[in-house]
Amino acid sequence: MAATMTALFGGTGPAWEAREIPVPAPGPGQVLIRNRAVALNNADAAMLSAADPAAGGTGAQYSAGYEFAGEIASAGEGVTTVAAGAPVMGTSPASFAAYVLADHRHVLPVPDGLGWEEACALPTGLLTEHGALTAAGFTPGRSVLITGATSGIGLIGVRIARELKAGQVIATTRSAAKAEPLRRAGADTVVVTGEQDLTQAVLDATDGQGAEIVLDHVGGAMFAACLPATRADGAVVSVGRLDTAAATIDLDALAYRRLRLRGVSFGFTRAAELGAVIAAAGEQLLPGVARGRIRPRVDSTYSFANAAEAAGRLRSHQAHGKIVLTLP
Ligand SMILES: NC(=O)c1ccc[n+]([C@@H]2O[C@H](COP(=O)([O-])OP(=O)(O)OC[C@H]3O[C@@H](n4cnc5c(N)ncnc54)[C@H](OP(=O)(O)O)[C@@H]3O)[C@@H](O)[C@H]2O)c1
Repeated sequence: MAATMTALFGGTGPAWEAREIPVPAPGPGQVLIRNRAVALNNADAAMLSAADPAAGGTGAQYSAGYEFAGEIASAGEGVTTVAAGAPVMGTSPASFAAYVLADHRHVLPVPDGLGWEEACALPTGLLTEHGALTAAGFTPGRSVLITGATSGIGLIGVRIARELKAGQVIATTRSAAKAEPLRRAGADTVVVTGEQDLTQAVLDATDGQGAEIVLDHVGGAMFAACLPATRADGAVVSVGRLDTAAATIDLDALAYRRLRLRGVSFGFTRAAELGAVIAAAGEQLLPGVARGRIRPRVDSTYSFANAAEAAGRLRSHQAHGKIVLTLP
């Protein structure tokens, strides 16, 4: 194994800077992964701009990235669950590098037939959407509304809800042009929020009752509109805030329908809890991944050397699916 590796750092400008740094050694409970591909998340863009000194950012330098796929290079003390050479995918800070350290509980095996580019684009979606459904008390047969469903993780949420036998899957997009991919992913009903009233459309699709579970990726007015579109005793989970984090909600809708509101943020979840979320997602979903029923949508792939272009694509908000960087 080489002594040094290329890693991408933020905090020096609008894009990441490649540096040559020592390959880290795994500590107790950790694994070292030789990365084959890594995926971008919105958090990467937010961190880049918050640290960019030229744009009023902190200038604090950090090793970038969260999501990866590659092979186990070595394991630290106490790790017995993975063998050297095993293909894995997972989430861990500082993943935009030739090698990444991860808590052994934060990786999943890559099923046969899944390429590196798809594998690296799956873990965040799998754990977030499955974790959100679990937080909502999902059981087969329940109806699920997924807002912002064409987002990288939302689309995986649609596939997961279908795979886990949701009674009805309702998905939203602002654009009629993106309705068909949502139907192909398993949505029974697509609400085009640029043209339809969300609350009314969901009530119309559910005999006036509303969806039993809502996974909201949009926030703002969309989050507020979800409450009267949720069935009595149902659950609304705030997963993302693609629009805005502030919402004015109707407390009558909340109280009269006896709704449960939950928030999830797996990037801020304790290591052991996150391990349990990932293990549960793996157990229930990897068979569906292996059979090709749960797959991410990859928007575009760049070489590691062209990471600045990938950052530009992420910031453009034009991507439909995940942006991936490949390593040699
Ligand atoms: N809770 C967690 O642990 C967790 C983990 C990962 C991500 N997240 C959050 O989940 C959200 C989705 O992440 P992602 O990376 O999958 O997103 P993404 O792929 O960047 O989402 C892009 C899509 O979002 C929709 N969208 C963008 N702005 C919107 C707006 N103002 N109103 C409504 N829809 C909008 C657009 O779909 P249309 O054009 O089709 O409408 C767009 O195609 C983000 O807020 C992210 O921060 C949360």
